[in-house]
Amino acid sequence: MKSFDFLVLGSGIAGLSFALKAAAHGRVAIVTKKQSAESNTNYAQGGIAAVMSKEDSFELHVQDTLKAGAGLCREEVVRIVVEEGPARIAELIQIGMRFSERAVSGERSELDLGREGGHSKRRIVHAKDMTGREAERALLVAVEGNPGIEVFEDHFAIDLITSRKLGRSGGNRCYGAYVLDRRTGEVETFVAPITLLATGGCGKVYVYTTNPDIATGDGVAMAYRAGARIGNMEFIQFHPTCLYHPQVKSFLISEAVRGEGGVLRTVDGEEFMDAYHPLKSLAPRDVVARAIDSEMKRSGADHVLLDITHKPAPFTMDRFPNIYRTCLEAGIDMTKAPIPVVPAAHYQCGGVMTDVDGGTGIDGLLAIGEVACTGLHGANRLASNSLLEALVGAHRASLQSVSNHPGRVDVEVPVWESARATDPDEMVVVAHNWDEIRRLMWDYVGIVRTNKRLQRAQKRIANLQEEIHEYYWDFKVTSDLLELRNIATVAELIIRSALERPESRGLHYNLDHPQSDAAWAQRDTVISKGA
Ligand code: FAD
Ligand code: SIN
Repeated sequence: MKSFDFLVLGSGIAGLSFALKAAAHGRVAIVTKKQSAESNTNYAQGGIAAVMSKEDSFELHVQDTLKAGAGLCREEVVRIVVEEGPARIAELIQIGMRFSERAVSGERSELDLGREGGHSKRRIVHAKDMTGREAERALLVAVEGNPGIEVFEDHFAIDLITSRKLGRSGGNRCYGAYVLDRRTGEVETFVAPITLLATGGCGKVYVYTTNPDIATGDGVAMAYRAGARIGNMEFIQFHPTCLYHPQVKSFLISEAVRGEGGVLRTVDGEEFMDAYHPLKSLAPRDVVARAIDSEMKRSGADHVLLDITHKPAPFTMDRFPNIYRTCLEAGIDMTKAPIPVVPAAHYQCGGVMTDVDGGTGIDGLLAIGEVACTGLHGANRLASNSLLEALVGAHRASLQSVSNHPGRVDVEVPVWESARATDPDEMVVVAHNWDEIRRLMWDYVGIVRTNKRLQRAQKRIANLQEEIHEYYWDFKVTSDLLELRNIATVAELIIRSALERPESRGLHYNLDHPQSDAAWAQRDTVISKGA
């Protein structure tokens, strides 16, 4: 048994930022299922939204966030996150993160502020088009230099250990997690009075996604099994512009490209966004993704085009070096030809319901970052608000957990019991079920939904879950099987939430209820086990 003061699940911006703060108050374990840097954070391109210029104001950022959120944001949370943003950016700079700057006069330079969809001002601090990679680099250097933090790579959190699961009466409390060491195949018990879920999102539930392979919704699935409340899972954000290319998987073309003047066109070269929104190519993401979906269905084309060829080539190459290089390797010179793009699953706006300090309602369990649903994003996240939310969440959760630290875990935690048998057919069954779930989620629970398709998806997922359940109990657990079980659970939660909301709002668009219903304006769809 491994015992710590703080157990952090996940090494993206949320987990690492929290760990650095918590380490001033006790011993911290970071458990992460692959290499430390492997996270959604590492692939973030556009940047972090924060009010950093005199032309901008907190009020404008708040209003932009509320507008994108389509009536479902919690305004008090929006205000806190927006107002605490600049201080969190300053801390990142202090630990060594290098943001892009622009010269202003003589020797003087200031942070270069980018623009993205739905923002009324330039307010995105960024490191060229590799903001996430630079954030992970800086945070991991700080973590490595901190003797109070131990990092466990290739360690996969299977399930949370709670008093309810141990059969204890009274309120539900979390004592840590069972964790699979992927290198040895052994399951270890990690015990801590405070466990932080920072496991990120669930893009891999869909066949087309901008997310890396780690994004299998493990945190939401674990929290759901532990009895937490899961909210607003119907609001899956589809990013409008993922590179469409047979050899390049999941590569995002940042919204910042449109922020710098990139224009969406049909395959025939016609601009089309003016027919959908006054902000045209820079309209909020839900509008742009649906417009592209509609244009593709209308024309039968399998992609649209993103054109920034009118900008000087040196500007594009300097501002977007990663996108330029990746497109070039795929045979597309974006300074001379438009980029073929399609929408893809990108971000989970719902998640484990928390307050703004990460409290989940289960004692000793906090959740922050993409896994959490704080109320900041409502029905549609404003671009570049998620890295911001993770930073603010980490800060507040650390303060909260330090001031309310429950001391030691004083219960006996049993070791993990699992079947020892292995099944040679496992790989093929897992791969098949995995593909089936992701394909059916794309086809039936995608950008545009109907009741009939959602009900069909629900039946299919229930059958698959039965099959997965048998495997889970009969055979030794592997990370593939665990991820399969989790994506099936998350798929179930997305479908149930979508069926529960009889209206269209933000990212949830249902042809059977194409209008928003005022009665649902302030209502979250909340699911908890047994409810
Ligand atoms: P993540 O960064 O995803 O980290 C999750 C961590 O948990 C990983 O280390 C993972 O391995 C680990 N983990 C997961 N499950 C387990 C388990 N069972 N056991 C152990 N470890 C586990 N947002 C912005 O604000 N601005 C942007 O410019 C931006 N660009 C983006 C570009 C791309 C391509 C993508 C995919 C997302 C982008 N986003 C952006 C969204 C943003 O990157 C994420 O919302 C944010 O990074 C989430 O941070 P996190 O720390 O919550 O989760
Ligand atoms: C992007 O760079 O387009 C992604 C920004 C985000 O998801 O917030």
